[in-house]
Amino acid sequence: MKAVADAPCKAIITGEHFVVHGAWALAAAVERRVKVEASEAEELVIESDGQRSSGSSGKRLAPVARVVTKLSEELRFSPRVLIRITSQVPESSGLGSSAATMVAVASALTKLKGIELATSEISRYAMTGETAIHGRASGIDVNICATGGVIMYKMGEEARKVRFAGSRRFLIVQSGTKRSTKTLIDRVSRMKVKYPGLFAGLANSASFISELAETRLVNGDMQELGRLLTYSHAVLSTVGASTPNLDRLVDLLLALGCYGAKLTGAGGGGSVFAIPREGSTDALIAELKSRGYESFQTNVPTEGVKSWLR
Ligand code: MEV
Repeated sequence: MKAVADAPCKAIITGEHFVVHGAWALAAAVERRVKVEASEAEELVIESDGQRSSGSSGKRLAPVARVVTKLSEELRFSPRVLIRITSQVPESSGLGSSAATMVAVASALTKLKGIELATSEISRYAMTGETAIHGRASGIDVNICATGGVIMYKMGEEARKVRFAGSRRFLIVQSGTKRSTKTLIDRVSRMKVKYPGLFAGLANSASFISELAETRLVNGDMQELGRLLTYSHAVLSTVGASTPNLDRLVDLLLALGCYGAKLTGAGGGGSVFAIPREGSTDALIAELKSRGYESFQTNVPTEGVKSWLR
């Protein structure tokens, strides 16, 4: 018998980095998923992208082993399982592939062991792996991957699902540069030490922008939401999360007519989140491709992690 789980990846709409320091942030699930299969085995084996690790060996897969160990110790079952991970997005691309992986691992494993966990509990276990990778993570990534849809999130509070009628379409553009979320969180956190008053003011503004963005999203006012995104990009650039390449990509997207664009997630590379004008997306994707950028359009999948037995 095998348990399978899959979880959506994510994009942060507003408030990344400042959320690590107590601000509100708005995040959406995207139509790219991570699938995890779990089955009983002789020992703990983790396979991902042609890599294989046994026991807790294998640096890259060690955070996954941590989630398995934590679950097996607290819920008292044997950690001798085979975990197979297949992701539709590359690692370090700002789209939460690690968070989606940890969430899907927790979900598949508990399904295999016949244990029902609330979404908030799945996020809590997934966080064990996320912290191992990113250090000081806020928890927004695992929460959105577990819940799906759109959430407003603040550390220490239960994630609030944002409800709206109809679909919302976004464009995700991959910058082509990989980076480490941990390095970026540390870099931005150093700005807080250097300019504590300014940083506190910006974190406060980030909460306010996230509230405004939530309302614009719910009302379907994509043009105004776009303006908030572009403004957020400038602020993230000020605190060290952007790069000249990301700034150029945002500049290009705006020149090509997008309502707004910004880096999404930790920055430093990764992906840009943009709102294309209605009816322009196919041409935009082709134009970006001709300039060497991979991009895709996404709706917001309402469903978060799901699991089943096979
Ligand atoms: C990463 O998707 C978002 C950050 O704010 C880190 C976090 O909140 O854990 C950069």
